Amino acid sequence: MLFLQKIIITHFKNYEISSFDFSSRVVGICGRNGIGKTNLLDAIHYCSFTKSYFSGTDLVNTGTNKEGFRLQAEFKQNDFTQQVVCIYKINGKKDFFLDEVPYEKLSHHIGLLPCVMIAPDDIDIINGGSELRRKFLDTLLSQLDKEYLQHLIVYNKVLLQRNSFLKQAAEKGNLDKALLEIFDEQLSKPAAFIYKKRVEYTTQLLELVDQFYKQISQNEEQLNIKYVSQLHEDKMESLLLKSREKDRILNRTNVGIHKDDVVIEFEEYLFKNIASQGQKKSLLFALKLAEYEMIKSSKGFYPILMLDDVFEKLDRNRMDNLLDWVCVKNNGQVFITDTHKERIEDTFVRLGIEGQVVELEG
Ligand SMILES: Nc1ncnc2c1ncn2[C@@H]1O[C@H](COP(=O)(O)OP(=O)(O)O)[C@@H](O)[C@H]1O
Ligand SMILES: [Mg+2]
Repeated sequence: MLFLQKIIITHFKNYEISSFDFSSRVVGICGRNGIGKTNLLDAIHYCSFTKSYFSGTDLVNTGTNKEGFRLQAEFKQNDFTQQVVCIYKINGKKDFFLDEVPYEKLSHHIGLLPCVMIAPDDIDIINGGSELRRKFLDTLLSQLDKEYLQHLIVYNKVLLQRNSFLKQAAEKGNLDKALLEIFDEQLSKPAAFIYKKRVEYTTQLLELVDQFYKQISQNEEQLNIKYVSQLHEDKMESLLLKSREKDRILNRTNVGIHKDDVVIEFEEYLFKNIASQGQKKSLLFALKLAEYEMIKSSKGFYPILMLDDVFEKLDRNRMDNLLDWVCVKNNGQVFITDTHKERIEDTFVRLGIEGQVVELEG
């Protein structure tokens, strides 16, 4: 079992310097709005993913007028402890250490100490554009498969290069076909790999989502969830070839795995267009719990689960079912935030959870 026993947060977001010791498998974090509950979860996420769950740039993660931030976390797994340290300086330098050994590439850390976060804005995975669903898939698959992330990094890099090459060619009014073919070849290899993995894992993922959705929503609505990709039709090489004229006119790459989506239908309509708020919330939890289960079955242990303000999202009955499943029936570590201390304590008592309650003050 993966267990976070300590975290020291320095100059990260609203934290000056704070140290937290976690002694229980289920940890409630409470305190008024704006006190730093979400930021604490994000610090934990950072130690798992080498980045914030919320913000792409580390400048906004650094405390106001600070030179940088430092995070230190101690994870325990069976009888084995591992220490993660991250030091970021606003000049852009970021170093990540595992047991004092610096990582050559941050991506090498992904998947070692996995975590799953459920935060209020995640409902955008359902309501928003396809890039959020791809991000959800990529986050999961990167934790399951080391090679996946490497291929994705290469793909995204070549995609940017190809697009700027197309733009330059348009400006010059002259396109170097040989060079374009090199880009196409460089794009095709990672695309094929990523596509294959997405097909392989989404089959399992979507089955789990369907199961969890039925459990959480407590009804038998039939969802139709599918992975949609242009690569279902053809290989990347030939898609690129067929799209060449269009790509030239629009100065960008119009085909590939960066266009993939997960489409969720409800009867014959798009789920996001007709589902109620409650149904959307149920589906969000189903997606995340499916992610949670898949990481468990691949790694042999549960990732750390972080539930940010979920009490606001589900009614008490559904909430109890959910917490009973993650906190009582399973044995992974769970962090859960709430503004109401009593609500967390009452829930722990009601469900027979021996949890730790951390109260943030300031
Ligand atoms: N880079 C930063 N520097 C200083 N304060 C920050 C930074 N980023 C966020 N904050 C502050 O953190 C607080 C929000 O903390 P948060 O963890 O979201 O609170 P909550 O307990 O409601 O989840 C806000 O007051 C916000 O201004
Ligand atoms: Mg919050």
